[in-house]
Amino acid sequence: MAVKSSKRFPNIVEGHIGDGSSKNTIELTPPLHIQSFSIMIFREPKTYFIRTYGCQMNELDTQIIQGQLEKRGLAFIDDEENADLLIYNTCSIRDLAERKVMGKLGQLGRGKKRHIIGVTGCMAMAKKDSLFRKFPHLDFVVGTNNITDLGTVLDEVLYTQRQVYKTDDRFEENLDYLVAKRDHNVKAFVSIIRGCDKFCTYCVVPYTRGGEVSRPAMSIIEECKQLVDRGYQEITLLGQNVNSYGKDKPEWNCLFHDLLYQIDRIPGMGRVRFLTSHPVDITRELMLAIRDLPSLCEFVHFPIQAGSNRILKKMHRIYTKEQYFEKVAMLTEIVPNVSLGTDIIVGFPTETEEEFLETYQAVHDIRYSVGFFYSYSPRKGTPAMRWKDDIPDEEKQDRLQRLLDLQASVTSEIRASMLGQTYEVLVERFNKDGKMLKGRTRCWKKVIFEGPENLIGTLQQVKMNSFSHETLIGERICQSALKIL
Ligand code: SAH
Ligand code: SF4
Ligand code: F3S
Repeated sequence: MAVKSSKRFPNIVEGHIGDGSSKNTIELTPPLHIQSFSIMIFREPKTYFIRTYGCQMNELDTQIIQGQLEKRGLAFIDDEENADLLIYNTCSIRDLAERKVMGKLGQLGRGKKRHIIGVTGCMAMAKKDSLFRKFPHLDFVVGTNNITDLGTVLDEVLYTQRQVYKTDDRFEENLDYLVAKRDHNVKAFVSIIRGCDKFCTYCVVPYTRGGEVSRPAMSIIEECKQLVDRGYQEITLLGQNVNSYGKDKPEWNCLFHDLLYQIDRIPGMGRVRFLTSHPVDITRELMLAIRDLPSLCEFVHFPIQAGSNRILKKMHRIYTKEQYFEKVAMLTEIVPNVSLGTDIIVGFPTETEEEFLETYQAVHDIRYSVGFFYSYSPRKGTPAMRWKDDIPDEEKQDRLQRLLDLQASVTSEIRASMLGQTYEVLVERFNKDGKMLKGRTRCWKKVIFEGPENLIGTLQQVKMNSFSHETLIGERICQSALKIL
């Protein structure tokens, strides 16, 4: 193989290479077929850039990927043009999410510098090696269940100079979780369960992340202890459905609430949150844990998705509106100061105006503290794809807007009811304006107030004076002043 240094691209070497075909096994064999076309040959990258699309699960995967790359000696640079290695950690949840990533990948092929380019995440799982056909400048594709194999995949790209993909259907537990690179030093995500077994008919997640695999409690506790030792004040336990924790491993005899009790006992543990909860799996034991465990915050994000029983059934959400409302009633009885969050899809196939109004009524009655509303987007490979996407876009947009308007007024009413009262706020960082400090109450309300930088990472008592949209604006009450009162 003729190899010579390229002056134009200092991190790569030019030469003749193999057939460029893709494969999905990791085996370190040199290319068998040498063809006569010339491409760049990569050297070990020194710098990387990573962009994340999608949910908190993907954000955490990005941090795990970063941890591995930095362990290998690569340095992050916030410079997409010049980094040697570019990674796009992708999302597939809606068509718009995929189109954003596809647009980005297309652009990269037109750039001047020849980087090593990899796609990871949910779209990598959904599209696998077909991405190589569409984007010949891609070097590797790594699925959600293989993020800890990234180093081996990179080795293979460097050694064989061929496109490589690894997209296993199932996640194998391993300890590389512990090398996540956190982008924050006050709060951190900790994965407790990967995948989802619920198979809602509209959702790609069970296909892009595979079935549920709980992480051993010992490993979770160890990571939480390390975070506490490093001064972290808040941990968010992550999973597509955290309430399923332990159900796939009955021999562990440790369900979600059992895990919470163990985490709460860690000396020095600050706040604990969790995301996301499937309404069916929210148990009375969990509600009691929220009431009784000092670390556990009084906020539960448990999406209703729709307020009509016919639509809920068609979505395969496995609860009725009445059962959902019963859970809300039980939760608010056991934890009276609890705040709730939801996700809702409008314009699901065949949803009538009357059925949408049931959803609207549910949002009106439950008074969520925060709501994320989406218009239905058909996803390839899901059961709902069989049904005609029959609600016109304008109708979906109209329903979405009505929900947004309703939620905006509920949000204002809830914030208004907090004015004049004092809440405990964990100070996370400076607000975007760089002047006010930003933090959250236990019930996940965003608060900004004036104060010095050294309050970051501490708990402060803040009196709420006003609000703008979802953000409360407050003033810090000094501890000594509180004592005198
Ligand atoms: N595991 C979480 C949600 C993960 S996806 C849960 O079950 O609550 C985040 C949200 O995206 C979902 O709650 C749903 O509201 C929305 N979503 C998922 N698939 C969608 C689709 N095909 N079209 C529109 N919204 C969708
Ligand atoms: Fe998707 Fe439903 Fe699983 Fe949530 S519970 S990730 S919406 S399949
Ligand atoms: Fe998107 Fe995958 Fe999360 S599809 S929403 S990144 S689980």
